[in-house]
Amino acid sequence: MLKAVILIGGPQKGTRFRPLSLELPKPLFPVAGFPIIYHHIEACCMVSEVKEILLIGFYQPSEALNRFIQTTQQKFKINIRYLQEYTSLGTAGGLYHFRDQILSGNPEGFFVFNGDVCCDFPLNDMYTFHKNLPNGTKYTILATEATRKQSLNYGCLVENPETHEVLHYVEKPQTFVSSIINGGVYLLSPEIFDRIGRVFQLNQNEIFSCDSFTQAKDCIRFEQDIFTPLAGTGSLFVFKTQGFWSQIKSAGSAIYANRLYLGLYHRNHPEILALNEDGKPKIIGDVYIHPKANVDPSATLGPNVTVGENVTIGAGVRVRESILLPGATLQDHCCILNSIVGWNSLVGAWSRVEGTPSDPNPNDKHAKIDSDALFNSDGRLNPSITILGQHVIVPDETIVLNSIIMPHKELGLSYKNEILL
Ligand code: GTP
Repeated sequence: MLKAVILIGGPQKGTRFRPLSLELPKPLFPVAGFPIIYHHIEACCMVSEVKEILLIGFYQPSEALNRFIQTTQQKFKINIRYLQEYTSLGTAGGLYHFRDQILSGNPEGFFVFNGDVCCDFPLNDMYTFHKNLPNGTKYTILATEATRKQSLNYGCLVENPETHEVLHYVEKPQTFVSSIINGGVYLLSPEIFDRIGRVFQLNQNEIFSCDSFTQAKDCIRFEQDIFTPLAGTGSLFVFKTQGFWSQIKSAGSAIYANRLYLGLYHRNHPEILALNEDGKPKIIGDVYIHPKANVDPSATLGPNVTVGENVTIGAGVRVRESILLPGATLQDHCCILNSIVGWNSLVGAWSRVEGTPSDPNPNDKHAKIDSDALFNSDGRLNPSITILGQHVIVPDETIVLNSIIMPHKELGLSYKNEILL
């Protein structure tokens, strides 16, 4: 029996995702029609040995989170529970705090996921790889390839190419170490808690912080505190995926993840992708339309568009590379490109809402986003996708270009390269 733990962070995390994370916890933000962590859960349910999924985070329990857990466990017929840390305990500290709950029922091991990873999650292959490792205590990290430049933003691993043992692990190195990067998905044996426990004991005697003085002493990070010392000891291994992998940090990366997950539906759920049919809107490439959305047949959607619940799309509307969140209204002949339109926002007739995608090569499934920074080195706003927060009103015949509009704004003019508070 296996279990799975998804690290969902808390309110102070996901700041690069604002303003969208002001409305609901980032892990519940819908990408390709479903909350970010729904994709992790669905992947776990394809591994028959996984019997329970634990979400660990420091969000206050909320109606949205409870509802998500209830509907998802009903859908997949698996036990899902939320365990709340009293504060941010780091990527390994929360697991250690709840070790009794994770180990109850004696699982042979458990998957751990960073909640903001976007991946095709080859968990069965990873489990087979893990089982075939030499006997003894073992830990497997899912990894992917990055360019030399991208690798500096991630955890970098040096492996023994024959045994796949991790010989060296450096988190976000200053200079190039390896193009094999930590994919934020692990398969761990229960003995990991002895390791984390030793770090926990050491920390009790020290005055230190993870990333700020307010961090708890119990804060432990997998990357620096566990994997770095574990590398080269004969128990840490790397499973390299050839599939797609990305992270959802900024809203821009959500557009990229939307494209990746829609592409995955071809393999897993072709039935939920929209088709070109008589009396229906024109569909180009991968498009997901919620069954309760109302789309005029003269609209053209795609590629890579997600239309949420109760979205209304008028005549002649054009949408490409965008996420339309539940309740949004697009009036006749407006055009939405590389943008996220917030919950219950309205875009007037003949208006244009447009952003610039941040990924360099739309056809490269290994492409990572080089920079999620809001501002470039000159202090200027990086060209970004356009985001309309919740309840934003864009009047008729208006242009909004590369801008971020905070919730509840009613625009009077056109905007370009602005953050509108
Ligand atoms: P950044 O680039 O700085 O964001 O680093 P990172 O990609 O390594 O991310 P980070 O380690 O901050 O978080 C990885 C995942 O773990 C994210 O999904 C976070 O929400 C989650 N996470 C981070 N810290 C905590 C924590 O203290 N508790 C829990 N439960 N989850 C956390």
